[in-house]
Amino acid sequence: MKNNYIIYLENIETIYEGEKLPVIQNINLKIKSGEFIAIIGPNGAGKTTLLETINGLLPYTSGKGFVYGKEVIKNKLDIRKETGYLIQNFEIDPQTPFLCKDIVMSGRSGKIGIFKLTTKKDWEKVWYSMGLVGMIDFANRPVGKLSGGEFQKILLARVLAQQPRILLLDEPFSNLDFTSKIQIETLLNRIHEKHNITVVIVSHDLSFVPSSCDRIIVMEKGHIIMDDAKENILSSEKIDNIFQNGVLK
Ligand SMILES: Nc1ncnc2c1ncn2[C@@H]1O[C@H](COP(=O)(O)OP(=O)(O)OP(=O)(O)O)[C@@H](O)[C@H]1O
Ligand SMILES: [Mg+2]
Repeated sequence: MKNNYIIYLENIETIYEGEKLPVIQNINLKIKSGEFIAIIGPNGAGKTTLLETINGLLPYTSGKGFVYGKEVIKNKLDIRKETGYLIQNFEIDPQTPFLCKDIVMSGRSGKIGIFKLTTKKDWEKVWYSMGLVGMIDFANRPVGKLSGGEFQKILLARVLAQQPRILLLDEPFSNLDFTSKIQIETLLNRIHEKHNITVVIVSHDLSFVPSSCDRIIVMEKGHIIMDDAKENILSSEKIDNIFQNGVLK
């Protein structure tokens, strides 16, 4: 049963270290390979916690979790190697000496392995990924000098260079202007179509659910309160209580 799904969570509950109450609970989520899913919900609903539980960054305290058919708790590193995770809150040190191309290359470290040198193929993937997000011209720029939106695109190139089987994207549009939002939305649709990657995207804004997305999960106070096909969610009455003009109330 669990092997039919690329992500399989059963009654998952996650408690942060030192805390008593779970931040997410009764999480039952089954995702098939190649699905494109959006997770939506107000601040503090547990969206980021859910993504970090999926890729093993946060250990769940009860329930069962399998990703790629492997138990998450025992296979965190293996799972993370194949999973591209774009984090929501990042800070760049303006003095950091790393160039954009180095940051994108660091996405391939799991593929290259320690003590191995980068190959021509690795660089090809780096250039290709930077091209996809429209950031080739920034290759030799120090990453600390980028704007928030530019850095977000470099981080997206980094997870693409990783050639992941699952993309977990936490608010990938949050720092982008309208033109960049459309550009990245088109890119995500294209990548999903071409490579059939499983995509899980967290968003606040219903108007920025990419068109390839076929299923929406709504979270509230640590629970999944809705999980249905995009059309059903968007046309449901319940959603009108949560969103106003496509934006969370
Ligand atoms: N390290 C932590 N220790 C304790 N509690 C935490 C920790 N990180 C997050 N929380 C709490 O867990 C809850 C869920 O947080 P989470 O970041 O998953 O929400 P979110 O849905 O991603 O919100 P947002 O839309 O603001 O990003 C919040 O109440 C938050 O305060
Ligand atoms: Mg979050």
